[in-house]
Amino acid sequence: MRLLLIGAPGAGKGTQAGRIADHFALAHISSGDLLRHHVATGTPIGQRAQAFMDRGELVPSSIVLDMLRKPVLAAARDGGYVLDGFPRTVEQAQQAYGVARELGVAVQVAVHLAVPREALLARIVARGLTSGRSDDDPEVLEHRLDVYERHTRPLLDYYRERERLLTVNGDRPLAEVTWSVLVQLQRAKKLLR
Ligand code: AP5
Repeated sequence: MRLLLIGAPGAGKGTQAGRIADHFALAHISSGDLLRHHVATGTPIGQRAQAFMDRGELVPSSIVLDMLRKPVLAAARDGGYVLDGFPRTVEQAQQAYGVARELGVAVQVAVHLAVPREALLARIVARGLTSGRSDDDPEVLEHRLDVYERHTRPLLDYYRERERLLTVNGDRPLAEVTWSVLVQLQRAKKLLR
């Protein structure tokens, strides 16, 4: 099974991706977590990515695609993946599809976690008290939300047009959101063949 989650900052992508991956015994691959690991360990990728992340900007696609190619292909060969945070733009989706289609490992379903802006702000401001993430600062967060609207929201139409999009109300307790995703995946199982 090959899934990805789309949602604004704070929509619950990381949280739900972990739960869904556990449920189906899939690899959870988070572009944000991998980038933060590179930053924390001072790798060349981390050194190039850090300033973009601190400002709440997207890291250049070439860096992200290079970083993800190996783990995604390995996970696809090993039962599947839940991707969280990638793709972030239609351009990234098209580039990834170009590679994955040839290998027969393209994404089957994109799950959109829909959460209103006020709830996103409240969640990230609360998380920012303890997360230590430089981009959880309120000003940077506003910018991340704008970047989402401008660059990532168009992905919803991209997957809708390809009849691969499921939308779930993410503004509910964690377990309810997970349950809704699982129910929708069950209903859409023809996409998973
Ligand atoms: P990334 O790490 O992907 O950050 P993000 O998209 O801003 O998302 P968050 O991690 O803030 O939120 P989330 O949706 O995962 O929610 P979470 O589960 O954590 O990216 C960070 C940066 O890396 C980007 O800005 C960019 O610079 C770079 N980057 C990453 N991918 C890239 C790409 N493909 N291309 C270019 N650049 C890229 O939950 C948030 C909080 O809410 C938590 O405290 C959680 O406990 C809580 N919560 C979750 N669900 C619920 C619920 N149902 N009810 C109440 N609280 C909840």
